[in-house]
Amino acid sequence: MSRNVVVIGTQWGDEGKGAIVDLLAERAHAVVRFQGGHNAGHTLVIDGERTVLHLIPSGILRSGVVCLIGNGVVLSLEALVEEMDRLAEKGVPVDDRLRLSPACPLILSSHKALDHARERALGSEAIGTTGRGIGPAYEDKVARRAVRLADLFEPEQLRERLADLLDLHNFLLQRYYSAEPVSLEEELQRLAGFFARVKPLIADVPELLRKMQSAERSVLFEGAQGALLDIDLGTYPFVTSSNTTVGGAATGTGMGPAPIDCVLGIVKAYTTRVGAGPFPTELFDDMGRHLAQVGAEFGSTTGRPRRCGWFDAVALRRAAFTNSLTGLSVTKLDVLDGLDEVKICTGYRLDGEILDTPPLLMDRYGECEPVYECMPGWREPTSGKTAFSDLPREARDFLRRIEEEVEIPVDIVSTGPGREAVIIRRHPFDPDQDSNT
Ligand code: IMP
Repeated sequence: MSRNVVVIGTQWGDEGKGAIVDLLAERAHAVVRFQGGHNAGHTLVIDGERTVLHLIPSGILRSGVVCLIGNGVVLSLEALVEEMDRLAEKGVPVDDRLRLSPACPLILSSHKALDHARERALGSEAIGTTGRGIGPAYEDKVARRAVRLADLFEPEQLRERLADLLDLHNFLLQRYYSAEPVSLEEELQRLAGFFARVKPLIADVPELLRKMQSAERSVLFEGAQGALLDIDLGTYPFVTSSNTTVGGAATGTGMGPAPIDCVLGIVKAYTTRVGAGPFPTELFDDMGRHLAQVGAEFGSTTGRPRRCGWFDAVALRRAAFTNSLTGLSVTKLDVLDGLDEVKICTGYRLDGEILDTPPLLMDRYGECEPVYECMPGWREPTSGKTAFSDLPREARDFLRRIEEEVEIPVDIVSTGPGREAVIIRRHPFDPDQDSNT
């Protein structure tokens, strides 16, 4: 039975999607990235070896899996080639496995420069972006002036397009931000070098997906960032610039939404956020520091420390709806091991009322105070457990409480960083198979 499965981050990113995608990729014919760019950081730990991927789909380490980068991704060729080279050095036949959509807008040096200049100018109001040029690249796409991968096939046309775009970027960089301009000739040269490397990988992604569908092949769509960072549905303006929610899997690849069979929402057993913006369950005390330390909560792209807090069922309830979630994967449960008490935020207090979904006006999100349900913690470690029945009773109760709060089943629980430390109760590619509940 072939199935199309979408994996979505349900918080502010860093939920541990990479490891889950790597796990599920075993049953998939293809893994597809559909939005974001190299702002993402997906960490995989295989046989103790750590691989961090930013742009290339997390199925790349599996033989027999095709990895596709869809049109919704903003592509830094520099980051791509660097990542390809690193994988090739490890012996991964990346050129055989990877295909790219020609419709991807390119991230240019000037996008990165604009991202930095803008954040600097915002000062204390800064978004805390990853500084990879993501926002400026998406702006140019929407303004219909982007340079896309396809443009590199036509050097004359490319020169003209790039000259026009750099005129604008350099005007902004020099006159508005007092920053250094970017040289047209140098940028053209850089692009030509990278293009020679990636040209053979360019393919018609919608057509590849159509053929896979006809041949009844299973496809895994790999979301980056998280639902609360969605440009339309997240905590605007403290968001990224793409649709991180499930609709992006359709618009960002060229496949319509109807063939999607399953949407797996990845949620950490607590909450983290990197960068600025509201975060109702954030902890500023020793517990916050404990979660950060035990969970090794440092950004895999920028190395920034992540802000930590309790599990937020209110935010997850919204993400469950905006993504049509069919199942949950709870990650890093083991980080809560050994605590006397664990908490789940079940409501937000705002203007004396208790809300069970986020406020109407997102700019009031920062004023929401969490209402917690406290549950007993567990002493016995969950770390490395592979069967739900082997979990301490309190941990099982915690997971059941999450299921009740959001009315979505917990299908997968990850209990450690390795490929093996996982409990699969219902497999997204084979939901009828017997599980180890
Ligand atoms: P940008 O995507 O670099 O423009 O950053 C916008 C916001 O999204 C910032 O708060 C970033 O910290 C956040 N962000 C972007 N990518 C990730 C990610 O992969 N994980 C977590 N946060 C991210």
